[in-house]
Order: sequence, then structure tokens, then C-alpha cells
Amino acid sequence: MARTRPNVVETVSQLRAAVRAFRGEGAKVALVPTMGALHAGHVALVRRAREIAGRTVVSIFVNPTQFGPTEDFSRYPRTFEADLDKLADVGADLVYAPAPGEMYPEGFATRIVVGGPSEGLETDFRPHFFAGVATVVGKLFIHCMPDYALFGEKDYQQLKVVTRLSRDLDLGVQVVGMATVREADGLALSSRNAYLSAAERATAPVIHRSLSAAAAAIRAGGDPAAAVAQAADAIAEAGLKVDYVAARNADTLAALAGPGEPVRLLAAAWLGSTRLIDNIPV
Ligand code: PAF
Repeated sequence: MARTRPNVVETVSQLRAAVRAFRGEGAKVALVPTMGALHAGHVALVRRAREIAGRTVVSIFVNPTQFGPTEDFSRYPRTFEADLDKLADVGADLVYAPAPGEMYPEGFATRIVVGGPSEGLETDFRPHFFAGVATVVGKLFIHCMPDYALFGEKDYQQLKVVTRLSRDLDLGVQVVGMATVREADGLALSSRNAYLSAAERATAPVIHRSLSAAAAAIRAGGDPAAAVAQAADAIAEAGLKVDYVAARNADTLAALAGPGEPVRLLAAAWLGSTRLIDNIPV
């Protein structure tokens, strides 16, 4: 039997009243920020949130400020009713779905800019992106004031940026990262996979396959720069346009300085008109 759908609130004051009631029960509160179009990766985040906190809030807001002028804001999938059914099944307690005017009222003029982990990688290709993400995530944290916030490792650089944001602004939110959920053929789950044609969908796992081969080569003692260059070639040979394939320090995302540090491989590439990103540990 389908479970009851979670309550939906649309304003900051309604959200704060609901969270106050949760705290009145003595519950810890976890927030799962999303842009909707929920898939099994989001469901895994909510499931984990329910394990670590008594009450789970899921925000659904397609954030215009993290999309560039030529990006997919208007065609980004919006599946609100199906999202509520998935959240009912996994037992989320509350959905926060603010209207754009609630998040960015007339005259809104503030931006949060995080340095450090936001430098390079995505920023080289989407210079607007992390200020948009940091501003909306900062606002969501301030609106909800959760104990925990959960993010997928699929957006690894984003996870590092929001962790830095919470620490640097003393927001008191413990950011929890969760392993990427993948299809059987390795493709990382993403709301944007819905854009892929059948032929593109068959090609898309080349990113994960190539990163995995590079990770294996590095683990076997190979040079990281050579391994990522080979991965970039393999992805390009499959017909994608590569934005980057990079080996970085897994904690700071800085360039590798020498042997012995934790390494993360990260990639972004266009498959037709769809931009896919992925990353794996070495
Ligand atoms: O990862 C996402 O879905 C978005 O970037 C986030 C964190 C919800 C901010 O809009």
C-alpha cells in the first residue's frame, strides 16, 4: 500500500514552524536538498537521512541562479507529483517547495561565493554555477537550520563546496556525502539522463568505464596525468566532447602535489546536447 505523501510547505515561515514542531518532539532534523526529478540516488539520500535523524525534510527547487543563460533551466525535468509519491514510499516527513519569488524576492542582490574547492573543474566551464549553488544551499540551510544535510558524491565538487560553505559560515550543518548510485552498466544516476536518446544512453557508460580504467592504472603505479589523458581520449573516441578529465586531491580538489595523497578522478563531457559528469575514487 502506498504510504501517505509528506506535507508540502512553500514558505520560509511554514518551514520554520514545521521544523520547530520536529524539534519540540526532540528530533534531529536532516535536509536533503534537491531540484526534484527524483531518482534512486535521491531515494538513497532520503533513506540515509532517515537513519541518522528523526525527521527528514526534502527541498525541491529548480534553482535558476545555478544555470547559465544558454543552459537547460527551462527544459530541466519537473516531475513534482511523481516525486511526492517516491518520497511517500521512502518515508520523508516534509517537502519544502518554495516558489522562485520566495527564494529570490524582488530586489534580491546577495551572492555567496566559496573559494577553495570551487576553483577549476566545473568553474572553468560553468563560471556561474557554484555561486548559484552556494547561495541557494546557504539559504536552504538558513531556512531549515537542519542538523544534517545530505548530498550525493556524483556532484563531488559541489559536495566539497557545500561542506566548505557550512564550515566557513558556521552554519552548524553537518554535511554528509553519499556514494553515487549507478545503473548496472556503470552510468551514474542523474536527472539529466532523461535527455539521452537510446543510442546516447548506450554510449554514456564510457565515462565511468574510462575513469575506472584510469583508476586501475594509477593504482598499479601509473602516472595520473597519463591515465587521465588516456581516459579523455577514450571518451572522445566514443563521440563525446570532453570538458575535462582530471586527477585531483580527493580532499581539497587541488592539483596533485606528490605520491601518497588521496586521489579523485573527475570528468565532464557532452553527449549530444546533454552534459554528463562523473567521478570515482582511486
Ligand atoms: O545537486 C542539486 O540537485 C542542486 O545543485 C542543489 C544542491 C539542490 C542546489 O540547487
